[in-house]
Amino acid sequence: MSIITPTRTTGARGVPVNMTEVPPEVVMRPEALQGFAADAGVNGTFVSDLLSAFLAHEQCGVHLYRTVAGATANPVLEAKYRDFLGDTERHVDLLTRLISELGGEPQYVSPSARLVHAMNTHLIEGVVLAAGSSDELPREMAMLEAVLLAETKDHADWSFLGVLCEDLPDGPTRTALMSVVEEVEAEEDEHVEWARKTWQRMTLMQAKSSTMMKVTDFAEKAFATVRNAVTPS
Ligand SMILES: [Fe+2]
Repeated sequence: MSIITPTRTTGARGVPVNMTEVPPEVVMRPEALQGFAADAGVNGTFVSDLLSAFLAHEQCGVHLYRTVAGATANPVLEAKYRDFLGDTERHVDLLTRLISELGGEPQYVSPSARLVHAMNTHLIEGVVLAAGSSDELPREMAMLEAVLLAETKDHADWSFLGVLCEDLPDGPTRTALMSVVEEVEAEEDEHVEWARKTWQRMTLMQAKSSTMMKVTDFAEKAFATVRNAVTPS
């Protein structure tokens, strides 16, 4: 079973930094990270921290997609969010396996991963707050914007792994990384492209609608706008 929220009870480990206290028995020792991806001639500690942060972003993506899929009023958007949720759950599994293969600990939550968690928590908070404080259309737009922002980082993360792959010498690390990147990169292209285009179309439709603000049945028209702005594919 995939771990979507690493906590002390799931066996998560960390490093104490400034105000972050980590119980001694779960402190990740720096020497344990140095051998990460040892055959690749990279800074093992840095790459281990980085992959921990990328995994954290995918885990947070699962939470985000579960939230927006449950909150949207548009069946077409819901289907797409559920489709991307499935991809994101698989990305969590692939990254988890990759970190183990490279000699790391998938339950290690690096300082960078903590920051990624904080950033994503605010994204999801925005979606949840919007649920009780706006009309339907702004709510749908807030969810879509959260997805667009999350997918933009997702895309940057996987593009970087592709670039890193090209730069590595032949060996087990390059082979393991390459096979995961080949499986995921095209899906990340699709995610960010869909989010960007859908956001653009929905925003354009509202910008061109001269009657939107005059009608009394705003909610009904807003729903139609959302539905019509997205074509099932
Ligand atoms: Fe994605």
